[in-house]
Amino acid sequence: MGIKMKLIPGFKLIISVLTLILVQYSYASEDQCFNCHRDLEDNPSKLFVEDVHYKVGLSCSSCHGGNSNSDDMELAMNKSAGFIGVPSLNKISEACSKCHSDAVFMKKYNKNILTGQFEKLKTSVHGKLSVNGRGMMLQCTTCHNAHGIKKVTDSRSPVYPTNVPATCNKCHGDASFMQSYNPSLSVDQLTKYRTSVHGILNAKGNTKTAECASCHGSHDIFSAKDVRSKVYKLNIPNTCSQCHSNKDYMKDFPIPTDQFEKYQKSVHGVAVFEKQDLSAPVCNDCHGNHAATPPGIESISKVCGSCHALNAELFSASPHKKAFDEKKYPECETCHGNHEILIAKDKLIGVEEGAICLKCHAEDKNQKGYRVAKIMRSQIDSLMSLDIVAKNLIFQAEQKGMDVEEIKFKLREIHQARLETRTIVHSFNEAKFKEVTNKGFKASEMAITEAKASIDEFYFRRYGLVVALALITFLIVIIFLYIRKIEKTKSV
Ligand code: HEC
Ligand code: HEC
Ligand code: HEC
Ligand code: HEC
Ligand code: HEC
Ligand code: HEC
Ligand code: HEC
Ligand code: HEC
Ligand code: HEC
Ligand code: HEC
Ligand code: HEC
Repeated sequence: MGIKMKLIPGFKLIISVLTLILVQYSYASEDQCFNCHRDLEDNPSKLFVEDVHYKVGLSCSSCHGGNSNSDDMELAMNKSAGFIGVPSLNKISEACSKCHSDAVFMKKYNKNILTGQFEKLKTSVHGKLSVNGRGMMLQCTTCHNAHGIKKVTDSRSPVYPTNVPATCNKCHGDASFMQSYNPSLSVDQLTKYRTSVHGILNAKGNTKTAECASCHGSHDIFSAKDVRSKVYKLNIPNTCSQCHSNKDYMKDFPIPTDQFEKYQKSVHGVAVFEKQDLSAPVCNDCHGNHAATPPGIESISKVCGSCHALNAELFSASPHKKAFDEKKYPECETCHGNHEILIAKDKLIGVEEGAICLKCHAEDKNQKGYRVAKIMRSQIDSLMSLDIVAKNLIFQAEQKGMDVEEIKFKLREIHQARLETRTIVHSFNEAKFKEVTNKGFKASEMAITEAKASIDEFYFRRYGLVVALALITFLIVIIFLYIRKIEKTKSV
């Protein structure tokens, strides 16, 4: 029993080796195209021995047509036997798609293989006509070669992850070539890509990191402005998270996989996905397309300023600038986070629990900041209370039927000041902050005074009416009495 168990694997090995030899031999003898061309020692036949098509038993005639059973040149390469010679232009992709767009045929060889590449390529940006106008500007062979085609998982394939950048760069790094198609396209994608974490890892042979095709697709590549593109603004978070949210895929890397989850909940994610506000950032607005950071920005921690310019300007002139630089704290992230940025609440300021200032300031540590934080907080609180007082008074006046439109305008000024405090806080400067709150205090003072006056006026008018009525009644009585008196003297 035990011996038998050991014999079986050995037997199996012998059988499979024999089959392999047989198979190779039978192909070689069957494919007369290959046999004759091998003897000619031409390049196609040399490359063909390493070709995936050769390995699954296909022949030269699978692409070129002809009769592969005949060892006679004339008969083998005869038009009547379907020989097409050397295909060119779209005839190339048509020849490949004869099989690669036939799902039923392809599944016989590999049940997981994808099909329909030609259909995708035709509609993609690369399916446009070449400059001579006679065919698509790319054919299957542009990326896969014609002979010696390898499986895409073979490290010798031009579309193996570490080879893709060079394959795309043949054109995308060639300024004069690209010029003739689309002069507005830059040709520095590869150069920039090599400065990113993705590009550096890829150059070291890592196959899991992102390369051109993982972000752009392979057969279905479109311009970023096209909604079908994987890098169209609204599709980007999904494109990045196909790896970055996949715990299993990312398990070899020492980084979290919660970026998308957090981003989705952030003020930016909500703006993009729920409010369709395309001015808010998606992943590449902060991380750059190809380089480690977007153009013109030295580090990702400074990227926020490209949109929130005023906040960044104030921050740069603030005492925090130097302090943060020295301690290597990231500028905006330290207080706002990166992926889960939420609406900034006034609770952030101050020295009570939950205030961000407390992270670094305390009564006995960085005291001046502590004092200023406390003042800022109390200024905001005062402004908010005065706002409530003003609102109440205006409401009372309105209820009494007084015209308060003018005074309501002052409320807006208070709100405006409160809004401005949210931005000016980034100066982290007491005087500048007070300049803004003072505008609010002035407006609230005026609103309160005017609302009170309006209410007073109401009482005055009501009181005045009573007095006037009393006066009129009094006058009427006097006149009445006077008339009676005259009538009496007349009758006497
Ligand atoms: C007995 C030898 C022989 C056989 C069999 C043969 N060929 Fe050729 N083939 C040649 C030679 C020699 C040439 C180059 C002569 C020429 O320029 O026509 C050639 C040329 C070609 C060319 C290039 C044609 C061109 O227009 O430049 C292709 C493609 C080709 N063969 C494919 C095939 C295919 C496919 C088969 C099998 C169906 C096949 N050959 C069978 C000898 C052979
Ligand atoms: C998977 C499809 C495919 C197979 C299989 C194939 N070819 Fe080709 N062959 C092409 C295409 C496409 C071209 C067009 C030119 C190009 O893009 O290089 C070509 C071009 C040629 C040429 C002319 C240009 C050159 O590179 O010299 C010859 C000769 C040729 N093939 C011979 C063969 C022979 C011989 C075999 C079998 C050993 C073979 N081909 C197998 C697709 C194929
Ligand atoms: C712009 C370059 C490019 C062109 C042009 C191109 N491919 Fe690909 N192809 C790729 C890349 C990159 C991959 C690997 C990544 C992937 O599978 O999407 C690939 C993968 C494949 C695969 C493997 C699919 C699988 O299931 O893994 C096949 C088959 C294939 N291509 C056939 C074709 C055919 C047929 C054409 C012509 C109609 C073509 N390709 C044109 C770049 C290209
Ligand atoms: C006669 C049918 C046929 C033709 C024509 C054909 N192929 Fe294939 N191709 C196959 C089969 C079958 C496989 C093997 C599938 C497998 O075993 O994974 C294959 C495999 C491939 C692969 C490897 C896919 C992988 O799994 O990684 C690529 C790439 C490819 N072909 C490209 C081409 C290109 C480019 C052309 C045209 C120049 C072409 N094929 C023409 C049938 C064909
Ligand atoms: C044979 C040359 C060639 C190869 C190889 C090539 N491309 Fe292109 N690609 C072009 C040309 C030319 C355009 C411009 C088309 C136009 O705008 O008219 C283009 C356009 C693009 C665009 C759209 C640019 C835009 O915003 O308009 C993207 C994205 C792109 N290619 C990515 C890739 C990727 C990724 C690869 C590799 C898998 C690749 N290309 C391989 C020639 C090539
Ligand atoms: C991490 C994802 C990612 C990788 C990797 C990547 N790209 Fe891009 N690519 C993008 C994004 C995002 C855009 C721009 C979208 C936009 O303009 O809004 C872009 C834009 C482009 C464009 C249009 C012109 C431009 O520069 O804006 C071309 C061409 C292009 N990429 C080619 C490539 C090539 C070639 C490679 C490989 C060397 C590559 N990309 C690698 C994400 C990527
Ligand atoms: C094919 C999978 C894949 C795709 C798609 C992808 N990435 Fe990555 N990314 C990786 C891997 C793997 C790393 C390396 C992780 C590490 O070790 O730092 C990485 C690293 C990064 C890093 C650097 C992390 C660090 O170490 O500080 C950033 C930032 C990043 N990716 C952003 C993006 C963005 C933005 C996109 C979409 C435009 C994207 N990635 C698309 C796989 C991917
Ligand atoms: C508002 C800007 C912004 C957006 C939007 C953004 N990031 Fe980030 N991301 C950052 C900052 C800032 C860091 C921290 C980088 C540092 O300190 O070096 C970071 C860090 C990362 C890292 C490194 C690992 C980590 O979690 O710290 C990855 C990976 C990453 N982001 C991927 C993404 C992906 C994927 C998206 C889209 C779903 C995205 N980011 C959206 C700003 C952003
Ligand atoms: C591409 C432009 C862009 C970039 C880059 C950007 N933001 Fe924003 N941000 C916006 C827009 C637009 C909104 C308004 C979203 C809404 O509420 O509709 C916003 C909202 C905010 C808010 C909430 C504002 C409030 O009223 O409370 C904060 C806080 C914020 N961003 C901080 C940051 C930080 C920190 C960074 C860098 C890590 C950053 N942003 C990067 C565009 C950007
Ligand atoms: C020391 C902490 C801190 C730092 C650093 C910081 N912020 Fe703020 N940020 C705040 C506080 C506190 C608020 C206001 C909350 C309130 O009063 O409601 C705020 C509010 C905001 C708002 C909403 C108000 C507005 O102006 O629209 C944005 C946007 C914002 N910050 C962006 C940034 C950017 C960009 C940076 C980096 C240049 C940055 N912040 C750095 C604490 C900080
Ligand atoms: C990540 C740490 C950190 C956070 C959070 C932080 N600060 Fe600071 N702050 C510093 C450091 C460090 C200094 C410089 C040391 C000093 O002067 O006390 C500083 C200085 C200041 C100064 C200038 C003091 C002076 O000497 O002129 C003010 C004002 C200030 N911070 C206010 C705030 C306010 C308000 C908050 C909350 C919204 C805050 N800080 C949050 C670290 C921080």
